[in-house]
Amino acid sequence: MASFTETDISATAVAVAHFRALESSRDDALFHDEFAALFVDASGLPVSDIGLSDVTSNRVYLSVAVRTHWLDAGVVDAVAAGCRQVVLLGAGLDARAARLGVRARFFEIDLPNVLAFKRSVMDERGGEYVDVAADLTAADWPARLIEAGFDPSQPTVWIAEGILIYFDSATNDRIITAVSELSAAGSRLLCGHFGAGSLTEAQTKEMTQRTSSAGYGFRSWITDPKTWLAERDWDVTATTIKAHGATLGRELPYEETPGREIAWLVAAERRSECA
Ligand SMILES: C[S@@+](CC[C@H](N)C(=O)[O-])C[C@H]1O[C@@H](n2cnc3c(N)ncnc32)[C@H](O)[C@@H]1O
Repeated sequence: MASFTETDISATAVAVAHFRALESSRDDALFHDEFAALFVDASGLPVSDIGLSDVTSNRVYLSVAVRTHWLDAGVVDAVAAGCRQVVLLGAGLDARAARLGVRARFFEIDLPNVLAFKRSVMDERGGEYVDVAADLTAADWPARLIEAGFDPSQPTVWIAEGILIYFDSATNDRIITAVSELSAAGSRLLCGHFGAGSLTEAQTKEMTQRTSSAGYGFRSWITDPKTWLAERDWDVTATTIKAHGATLGRELPYEETPGREIAWLVAAERRSECA
């Protein structure tokens, strides 16, 4: 049934689902994603062996579990604060539309093969969301989002999870500029990104090698989330996956220091009306 291969960047969505399925099977799970294992099974991809060492594989698993927990809470909070639209940039096999039970319209942007595969699994089980087949590196994705029914005059929560790291900084700047232009006052932006510490840290280097040999790669990081977003009129707060994991009793297996963060979790709120 899978319409993508191991060497396709879209397969990263299945790897993330694999780690969400693992977390969901724990007695002390941080969340329950009943769809994750269904996606993995239907994909037929051998994701339990993703070509990383045990330490790095465990670190990716922990990172996905901790960031999913942080983002779940961020989406619930944003919807309670009045954001009635959720846009997932590189939605992959994220099942929040079905599992969070929030009153909001979900728009899921991804490549056509991923969206078709996801529908084939979700359609049997419900799950209300709008597909937006688009390439985020192209200029026309905002127009496709609006064509799909997105209303830029309404507050929105944007999710960029496990996606910006695959694009270079100039591409991310274009994406964030477009997001800013489409964001009414009160909109939220929730995203994960690598920090400057990821450049030299051993496990990230191992992952970089793995992703490069798979045909895609890690292409960017940010040193300071506030500088990155403040000039576009966002109020920014930031933590890291390691710091959020510590609040949950999940210890990430690496060290980080201020200025050399490994993986950011960035939450921003739009101050003014969109242009
Ligand atoms: C690591 S997965 C993350 C998926 C999801 N955000 C999650 O956390 O479960 C990256 C996703 O980005 C999508 N993607 C990669 N490049 C893209 C592009 N140029 N335009 C749209 N989606 C893209 C992939 O197809 C994949 O579904």
